[in-house]
Amino acid sequence: MEIFNTVKDMQDKANRLREQGKRIAFVPTMGYFHEGHLDLMREGRKRGDYLVISIFVNPTQFGPAEDLDKYPRDFERDRTLAEEVGVDAIFFPDNEGMYPPRYQTYVDVEGVTKNLCGAARQGHFRGVATVCTKLFNIVKPHVTVFGKKDFQQLVTIRTMIRDLNMDIDVIGMPTTREHDGLAMSSRNVYLSEEERESALSLSRSLFLAKKMFEAGETDAGKVLAEVTRYIESYPHTRIDYAKISCVDTIEEAQHVGVDTFIALAVKVGKTRLIDNHVFGEVLDIPYPEGR
Ligand code: PAF
Repeated sequence: MEIFNTVKDMQDKANRLREQGKRIAFVPTMGYFHEGHLDLMREGRKRGDYLVISIFVNPTQFGPAEDLDKYPRDFERDRTLAEEVGVDAIFFPDNEGMYPPRYQTYVDVEGVTKNLCGAARQGHFRGVATVCTKLFNIVKPHVTVFGKKDFQQLVTIRTMIRDLNMDIDVIGMPTTREHDGLAMSSRNVYLSEEERESALSLSRSLFLAKKMFEAGETDAGKVLAEVTRYIESYPHTRIDYAKISCVDTIEEAQHVGVDTFIALAVKVGKTRLIDNHVFGEVLDIPYPEGR
């Protein structure tokens, strides 16, 4: 497996691969891998001749009061795991390489970033769109793989690629979950044992919403009232948002349908977790009866 630390070395490699007619698959990450990242890489492995991943904790997508400094990092562990799933190269730049002095160019995707995490985390998607544009220009992929756990991020990237005529296929992969349904996230390591139990309120309340929809409920307000009640029945939880929105526009929806999804952001203790469910899609989690 190759490691590239500079933009130039990575771009030279990408140019050579393209000259040889190789298909480049790319998975951008912020490192500290869990099974969810590895699933994205396994998919990338199938989609290209040469699989590149990036590890870069991107400062421009964190707000001033967020966890940039304490975001978990472990390059050696990540390198081993990446090698095990057959990654060909890691692009691992430093901050100065990505944002040199006098850096001043940003990418703003408008409509789909207004609500949900876009409203709760000002500037977050501007940072994501900017770093992904830069990474795409450096790695020059034919295909890129993103997780549906960050559903609004996936829609933002798809929108940006369409609007800016980037010639890249985007694959959206289902959320990878722990055995009890908790969506995998690098931030799960912050949770205490008690908070870990409360964190299950997210996936379980999504399951509740799915059941209500399957039983014929189409009133978004009623589904959200039940989801809110459920999450708040667990200790240490504080809902940042619980919303049902259109899958294409991320506009709030009054009715539940297969063109909508429910998205949650919940603080469990000090840790902010997100999860979502697209109505009509599979959500296979164990759900305790009678709560
Ligand atoms: O999903 C992430 O880990 C990040 O937002 C991404 C796409 C790597 C951009 O920094």
